[in-house]
Amino acid sequence: MKIPFFIQEFTDEMEEAAIHALRNESFVGGESVTKFEEEFAQYTGTKYAASVSSGNGALQISLMALGLNWDNTENENHSRRPGTIITPTNSFIASANCIRMSSSFPLLVDVNMDDGGIDLSDIKNKKNKMDLEKLSGIIPVHIYGNPCDFDSVKSFAEEEDIPIIEDACQAHGAEYKGKKVGSLGDVGCFSFYPTKNMTVGGDGGMTTTDNEETVLKIKSIRDNGRKTKNEFDKLGFTMRLNTVNAAIGRVQLKHLDEKTTRRREIVSIYRKNLAQDCILPENKDGKSVYHQIVVKHEKRDEIRKELTDNEIGSAIYYETPIHQQPIYKSYNNPLPNSEKFSKLILSLPSYPQLTNDQVLKICEHVNKIIS
Ligand SMILES: Cc1ncc(COP(=O)(O)O)c(C=O)c1O
Repeated sequence: MKIPFFIQEFTDEMEEAAIHALRNESFVGGESVTKFEEEFAQYTGTKYAASVSSGNGALQISLMALGLNWDNTENENHSRRPGTIITPTNSFIASANCIRMSSSFPLLVDVNMDDGGIDLSDIKNKKNKMDLEKLSGIIPVHIYGNPCDFDSVKSFAEEEDIPIIEDACQAHGAEYKGKKVGSLGDVGCFSFYPTKNMTVGGDGGMTTTDNEETVLKIKSIRDNGRKTKNEFDKLGFTMRLNTVNAAIGRVQLKHLDEKTTRRREIVSIYRKNLAQDCILPENKDGKSVYHQIVVKHEKRDEIRKELTDNEIGSAIYYETPIHQQPIYKSYNNPLPNSEKFSKLILSLPSYPQLTNDQVLKICEHVNKIIS
């Protein structure tokens, strides 16, 4: 590929931090882990952050910490218990799988055709048809790095008295009405998978919250449900973030804002030079971090072919909405917007290392099809 869709970054600074941590700290639970958590909490504007081993793990553990999972331990105070948890169908499968993993039922809802975000009118239609007693949570997704319409999610959640678990796995540093995502709901969940806007040199994740009890539960669940050295009072996993990854994460976090600035420059070059305004819009009340720069166009397949023929990478997130994945097919629940949306969208390269000339070259090829 002349212009790949994604490049994996490994800098001298990341290498030095990794070696330093490996030589000087415990491989598990080293000082870098605590520092990364403190710095991430400060960055996101929450009181606490607890690292975990992936974004999927962040979501799963958050549901458990909020008492939304099935758990047969008698001393656990389950205020809510499993039920139905709402999440949009235009997302990575983990947004829904975490719900299934906690023995809850994912109510997959449609997206709005403008930006592919969760469609609240769809939630309201569904809500009227379901057993409300069973509604136990909502996982809005800040898809493509663009904050969702959080006011509507919040008023819905308040009406229903359910917690909000933000899936901010694609949206490190994105803002809604001046507040960072991950600080808006009850718990925020982030992924550091290598394609994300920041990584830890492998899989990794983070949870953010203002609630001390929740963060303590998350820290316990990621460590097998440990209460003290030899006492375990809840179900748990081994889902900690390794020290070396935390050390790399600290370096990446330090550079996140400058990279976001570059992503925003890149999107403005695309917007200026594409023959049609076909890039998905930014939330008018927020700031996207452009994890994905997505065009929506009837000629999507032709654009993709033109790019591939000229060795320019592109990708489709997501070709198959979650409700049409084999594992969810039995839900048999048509969600027409997302089905249409998935056939129109194409992610263009968006990484900060792209040069202006490369962005212009991509525009040239897209314009050949859409002009
Ligand atoms: C929206 C969304 N949710 C959840 C995840 C899961 O994160 P991870 O791959 O780190 O488990 C991802 C990442 O792929 C994601 O993009």
